[in-house]
Amino acid sequence: MNIILLGPPGAGKGTQARRLVDARNMIQLSTGDMLREARTSGTEMGKKVAEVMDRGDLVTDEIVIGLIREKLQLGEAEGGYIFDGFPRTLAQADALSNLLSELNETLDHVVEMQVDDDALVARITGRSTCANCGEVYHDVTKPIPGDGKCSNCGATEFKRRADDTEEALRTRLLAYYKQTSPLIGYYYAKGDLRSVDGLKDIDEVANSIQTILS
Ligand code: AP5
Ligand code: ZN
Repeated sequence: MNIILLGPPGAGKGTQARRLVDARNMIQLSTGDMLREARTSGTEMGKKVAEVMDRGDLVTDEIVIGLIREKLQLGEAEGGYIFDGFPRTLAQADALSNLLSELNETLDHVVEMQVDDDALVARITGRSTCANCGEVYHDVTKPIPGDGKCSNCGATEFKRRADDTEEALRTRLLAYYKQTSPLIGYYYAKGDLRSVDGLKDIDEVANSIQTILS
């Protein structure tokens, strides 16, 4: 089964993708994670990507489609793929459709996670992640355990993202509404769209997604 998690920055796509990896043995393909890895490479491409991401704008279609193509060509997903933060433009959606049909794969569900802007700001500005395993925390809703150790891997180092500032978040939201939200209509017209209330707590959202997938 192949699914897309679609939603604005902070909707909980990464949090829910990790749940699905554990519960269903799926592979998470997060273009955000891939780009953050690329920017540490020190290459010219990595430097350009870093500037664009820190501003909160979208990286070019060519780069992200190339990253996804490379991963899909590895062909290792028995439980299927979770596309997290991809596609983000209509051109990316068309490219994904072509890539999947080349592999004789289908897209089964597009799960739209609905969260209002005020909640997104609170989520993004309170977020931190484990530097070792990427487990996602929040200062209020999912605090780092009292002993200072990641509940998933025991590591003690946590980081905040360079684009999790209020200023960059404004640009990210604008990019979402202008370039990504048209995908809601695109997938609705294809009959693939399922929507969940992303304002519910993490377990409830996970249950709603499991119901859609079962
Ligand atoms: P990306 O890494 O994809 O970031 P994003 O879409 O902005 O999404 P986030 O990772 O910020 O949020 P999320 O929905 O995963 O929420 P999370 O689970 O962490 O992209 C970053 C940048 O890379 C882009 O701006 C762009 O420059 C570039 N990029 C990436 N993909 C691209 C593409 N395809 N094309 C072009 N450019 C691309 O949760 C957030 C917080 O809320 C956490 O603290 C969490 O604990 C908390 N939380 C989660 N769920 C709940 C809940 N139900 N209740 C309460 N708190 C919750
Ligand atoms: Zn960890």
